Amino acid sequence: MCGIVGYTGPKEAYPILIKGLKRLEYRGYDSAGIALLNSAGLNIYKKKGKVADLEEFIIGKNTHGNTGIGHTRWATHGEPSDRNAHPHRSAGGKLAMIHNGIIENYNQLKQELLNKGYSLQSDTDTEVLLNFIEEIKNKNQCSLEEAVRIALKRVTGAYVILILDEENPDTILAARKGSPLVIGIGKGEHFLGSDASPMLEYTREVVYVNDYELAIVKPDELILKNLGNETITPFVQKLDMELAAIEKGGYQHFMLKEIHEQPHTLYDCFRGRLDAEAGLITMSGVQQYADELVHAKRIIMVGCGTSWHAALVAEYLFEELCRVPVEVEYASEFRYRNPVIRQGDIVVAISQSGETADTLVAIEKAREQGAIIFGVVNVVGSSISRITHAGAYTHAGPEIGVASTKAYTAQLSVLTMMALNIARMKNTISEENFLHLLKELQQIPEKVSWTLQHNQHIKDMAQKYKNAKDFLYLGRNLNFPTALEGALKLKEISYIHASGYPAGEMKHGPIALVDEHLPVVFIATKDKVHDKIISNMQEIKARKGRLLAVITEGDTATKEICEDTMVVPEADERVAPILNVVPLQLLAYHIGVAKGYDVDKPRNLAKSVTVE
Ligand code: G6P
Repeated sequence: MCGIVGYTGPKEAYPILIKGLKRLEYRGYDSAGIALLNSAGLNIYKKKGKVADLEEFIIGKNTHGNTGIGHTRWATHGEPSDRNAHPHRSAGGKLAMIHNGIIENYNQLKQELLNKGYSLQSDTDTEVLLNFIEEIKNKNQCSLEEAVRIALKRVTGAYVILILDEENPDTILAARKGSPLVIGIGKGEHFLGSDASPMLEYTREVVYVNDYELAIVKPDELILKNLGNETITPFVQKLDMELAAIEKGGYQHFMLKEIHEQPHTLYDCFRGRLDAEAGLITMSGVQQYADELVHAKRIIMVGCGTSWHAALVAEYLFEELCRVPVEVEYASEFRYRNPVIRQGDIVVAISQSGETADTLVAIEKAREQGAIIFGVVNVVGSSISRITHAGAYTHAGPEIGVASTKAYTAQLSVLTMMALNIARMKNTISEENFLHLLKELQQIPEKVSWTLQHNQHIKDMAQKYKNAKDFLYLGRNLNFPTALEGALKLKEISYIHASGYPAGEMKHGPIALVDEHLPVVFIATKDKVHDKIISNMQEIKARKGRLLAVITEGDTATKEICEDTMVVPEADERVAPILNVVPLQLLAYHIGVAKGYDVDKPRNLAKSVTVE
């Protein structure tokens, strides 16, 4: 979390930095700040709140400078405040630094500084690291670059840091370990960012900086080194992200835009991979490790948040179609256990951002123990995509709304295609079933489109339920994860407490919560457990709970027992989770908006969680 941006070149840095920060706000929005270098020295402006608050604060101030850095924060050490906002200035006054990540041994470094008589202005680990660097520079009488190298050898944790130095007014010094850093190469100018969005209109040429690399960035020069001071040739890649993809395009929020984009993103996800007419699925990552995937004794799926829910759906699919045992793990738990991993185990890492710290470390650990790592990642070139053996991108395009929507349905689509591809190679699926499911998958984008036409009805429903204090979401089988995801969306966006539960487990506890005030949302589409779900719904109704349900088009019997319903077209239950979540995304969105919340930037959350 935290977004970082930098510019050095002939242009005024300020407008580039502010625009860049707005694009990176999905990474955190507790406070924001900017440091600009000009002939008079270093100007630092920072403010608690969103980037718009910073912009307002800066009106009328001196924003001149051709080199600058900017930061939007998700607080780790120290509450969100002006004082803890980045950039931080060193005690000597000449250095300014921004940081994304956590310095784990900051307390030890802090003690060393305090013993030397330093006094710190903030509660952040960032200010500690900056002064630690300055202390080394002064003591060793060395260059800033050398001091950074020495300091980083002492640091444990994750970081991307950008430093400005009054003595080198056109240079930004950057270093990375564990958090993302992209450098854009322009004509006589360079751009830096946590992702490529701040530089999209200026350049298509980018370098993804690797861990333990240090960059010395000047307007017409980019020097990349490792911590051993050896020069590295930058690997320049072409960006294929379009500006329109990161703008709202007429929608009130990114979340609503992204929900509505799903017919296209799903189509993009299938394109070139799924050919229902020819009866083919082609996934190059799967082909590359075909032997290992076919003979795997076990598949372990890891992820966090929404990506973990995608893993749960995949567990049902892989076990049913590929007849292979699957374990689903929270990455944050997996990494601190002592998991039994055997040579040849396959670990599937699922992540929208490709930067989630817990998932990254979990797969590093599994890799060390001999597992083959397969990535299902959305952000091209992200850290996770680069440390996996093979993988499949989800091709959902940039997802900016903090609550994941289109990335989730794309993850489910990729995982379903994977399961089908492997099942075919293993001969654990009949030809008829395989061809049937390919057709079902191919029809999904159109069915999502149909479902989205009921947006207004769900918006009206939202008005009715917006004041509920709690919600329960229930589903069975493949739609149990859909219930979890529906509940998570509501929590994230509307701050209403919501629990997802397997419908069959309801009688073992949650049923005690049911009264005439509690909305209970069932995922009650036509499938093999439909009758069981209806029985569970009756049990809620008998206790006067408010029954809501996602139902299959034309299912009047289920409609009649509900207070309100959300309709989806009929679909095979194995592809239905891709479809059934869509009305739940809309319900959460409209309740959040009806309550007056900033649904794209829900409180306390961040999209890319690069801390543990
Ligand atoms: C954060 C986001 C969630 C996301 C989770 C995992 O908590 O707010 O929407 O599901 O991280 O992120 P990833 O990028 O690894 O899918």
